Amino acid sequence: MNYRHHIDYELYDDWQDLEDRDVAMIKEAYSICEQAYAPYSKFKVGAIVLLEDGSIVRGNNQENMAYPSGLCAERVALFFAGANFPNLKVEALYIVAKGELLNSSSLLSPCGACRQVMVETEMRQKSDYKVFLVSENKKVIVFSSAKDLLPMAFGT
Ligand code: THU
Repeated sequence: MNYRHHIDYELYDDWQDLEDRDVAMIKEAYSICEQAYAPYSKFKVGAIVLLEDGSIVRGNNQENMAYPSGLCAERVALFFAGANFPNLKVEALYIVAKGELLNSSSLLSPCGACRQVMVETEMRQKSDYKVFLVSENKKVIVFSSAKDLLPMAFGT
């Protein structure tokens, strides 16, 4: 038997056309992106976790001289949310980036380890959340679930 995996997502040409709340979150993501500690890769990533009560958790990538000891922006934000607000569901995750690794039209696509953590957040809270991936040329892709970014994730 052959099977096919189908993933739906929305693509917008300009994130500024999204609804006000999403525009505000993406602006927050760019602001925290500036504060990333990325002296080695010079690639800055910002992540905003929007919680169900409307509060937000900001994260950015934190690198280290001993390279593997650093952590991606998405996990910084999701782990902080899990540590401090374990009973508040995540409603959305917004991810932006700046740096030479990303040319102006390419989209930041989270690494595999972050995807696994993103999926487990949905498993833990028993509900899906939206994931917004923003490119430097303003395009944005919106997924309705983190699971769409990691089909057949470990544990699913
Ligand atoms: N990085 C993130 O923060 N998120 C991703 O989704 C991919 C990569 C960081 C890790 C490292 O600090 C830098 O970007 C270059 O890989």
